[in-house]
Amino acid sequence: MNLKGKVVIVTGASSGIGAATAKLFASHGALVTAVGRDEVRLKQVADICKTYHGIQPLCVRVDLTEDGSCEEVVNKTVETYKKIDVLVNCAGKTIVSSLFENSMDTFDDLVSLNLRVPYKLCQLCVPYLKLTKGNVVNVFGNKCVHRPGFLLSAILCSALQCFTVSGSRDLSCEGIRMNAVRPGLTRTHFLANFNVDEDLMDLTYNELANTQPQVINEPEDVAKMILFLAGYEHPNLTGNNLFLGGGATSC
Ligand SMILES: NC(=O)c1ccc[n+]([C@@H]2O[C@H](COP(=O)([O-])OP(=O)(O)OC[C@H]3O[C@@H](n4cnc5c(N)ncnc54)[C@H](OP(=O)(O)O)[C@@H]3O)[C@@H](O)[C@H]2O)c1
Repeated sequence: MNLKGKVVIVTGASSGIGAATAKLFASHGALVTAVGRDEVRLKQVADICKTYHGIQPLCVRVDLTEDGSCEEVVNKTVETYKKIDVLVNCAGKTIVSSLFENSMDTFDDLVSLNLRVPYKLCQLCVPYLKLTKGNVVNVFGNKCVHRPGFLLSAILCSALQCFTVSGSRDLSCEGIRMNAVRPGLTRTHFLANFNVDEDLMDLTYNELANTQPQVINEPEDVAKMILFLAGYEHPNLTGNNLFLGGGATSC
């Protein structure tokens, strides 16, 4: 896919799916804004991006939940590249906890990063996406798990699905598309939020895969779907939730 010269903002680019996405877009000639908090990992990703076409990505190291950080991402991107074609909302996290344990701080923290940030970034990008007839890709879980410990994840999953579908209706009158990629279990740092020991991560992924009717995705598999949706082959592709869950998809 030729994305030469397309300007793509990828949040969560320092790790996992976002890192794979930033690299894949760079390999297709896109000009990438890589957003994350971890400076070292962000630089490692940027260095790999540069090896494809010699273009250094713009790295924006911010905590997206802090006031002014979303504005910083958009303003720096426009200052550097003069336009925006694609926003990939990939930064996210979850925790296992129940209604009995969740403090409102936990609620606010998860809602802020997983829902408020994509919403706000989308709003801030709209004036630029209007000009380029660009698009937004949201990344979140492939199913709302309705069992103890997953209440906040389920709430966020439903909210992001509504955001993608209803938001795409709002945006379509301006020629902007919005879709979602919803991966199943994917081998990233995501499980670290589940208090899983780094050394046991691979073992845990393999065990989880054995107990579910699905394979483990690699981040690169998910990145390819993001690229497909963000690409310009299908101008009418909007409001879709694309699942990558080995058949274990429901909502
Ligand atoms: N892995 C899975 O099994 C799976 C399944 C379904 C959906 N997803 C979704 O895929 C998305 C990417 O997750 P992943 O699996 O790639 O996880 P990951 O490896 O843990 O990456 C999460 C990314 O989000 C960034 N991030 C977290 N908090 C942030 C904050 N406050 N400000 C800015 N950046 C922040 C992290 O940046 P730093 O590391 O620099 O802090 C990191 O780049 C998430 O939205 C997740 O819900 C994952």
